[in-house]
Amino acid sequence: MTIPKPSASALRASSSSPDPRDAWIEELQSRMVQLERLAAVGELTSTTTHEFNNLLMTVMNYAKMGLRNKDDASREKAFSRILEAANRGAKITSMVLGLSRSRPGELEPTKLARVIEDTLVLLEREMQKYRILVDKQIDDVPLVMAAADQIQRLLLNLLTNARQAIGENGMIKIKLAFEASSNSVVLTVRDSGCGIAQELLTKIFDPFFTTKSGPDSSGKGGTGLGLSACKEIVEKHHGRIRVESAVGKGTAFCIRFPVTTEAAEEKPAA
Ligand SMILES: Nc1ncnc2c1ncn2[C@@H]1O[C@H](COP(=O)(O)OP(=O)(O)OP(=O)(O)O)[C@@H](O)[C@H]1O
Ligand SMILES: [Mg+2]
Repeated sequence: MTIPKPSASALRASSSSPDPRDAWIEELQSRMVQLERLAAVGELTSTTTHEFNNLLMTVMNYAKMGLRNKDDASREKAFSRILEAANRGAKITSMVLGLSRSRPGELEPTKLARVIEDTLVLLEREMQKYRILVDKQIDDVPLVMAAADQIQRLLLNLLTNARQAIGENGMIKIKLAFEASSNSVVLTVRDSGCGIAQELLTKIFDPFFTTKSGPDSSGKGGTGLGLSACKEIVEKHHGRIRVESAVGKGTAFCIRFPVTTEAAEEKPAA
């Protein structure tokens, strides 16, 4: 991928004409976001392939059970397990397709609790593998104007960072609550990981800032684009993202989404 650099004469253009560097930087930023999206989808491929393998095993085993046992109860059980596995497979496929769409989805009244649940389906095995307990405290909050695919990317980035900061054996807490004073819905992702040194806190949202040497054992991470993508997503949602961290104790990312009357008046999507 090459992005033509503006010529020297264009860069010397008078201050009254639009600065060609602005367009160039804008183009670079949008390509960067695209790259981050593709990297995220690439990383998901290995997770989802394993998950699909597990689902296929379930389908095959219950199909065999149904064929072997002719009684109604066994067949009923076999069919319902096969249906459950197929539904889970369909959910995973539609999420990966949503994440790989080059155009981000529109903001619409969204139930964040559902997006959290859907995203966790993708990370369930990974968290089990690294023995990380995911604790959810999800309140019944108002709808917010959001693009579900964008929020999924945000959560995937935050949860992957949290998992990598923990290494093995630890806890991630996901909290969703309404904050009346700011009329916003607050999403908090807190981990029991290594924490972030005070002097790095101002840098972590910069594109390409990373302390990781490359992809980890699960093939994820190390480009330094995750949090800059998160910040951009939060800004598109007119929200705020804040971090607090203590070295050796853990980190919490806290995101505020404004509750708009538009979102509050709509009914949740089925
Ligand atoms: N939960 C966390 N705990 C500790 N450090 C974190 C956490 N989240 C982010 N960081 C620090 O912030 C840096 C930047 O994070 P960011 O997600 O942008 O990039 P990355 O994880 O290094 O690479 P990737 O592009 O694959 O996400 C990380 O390298 C890490 O040092
Ligand atoms: Mg990251």
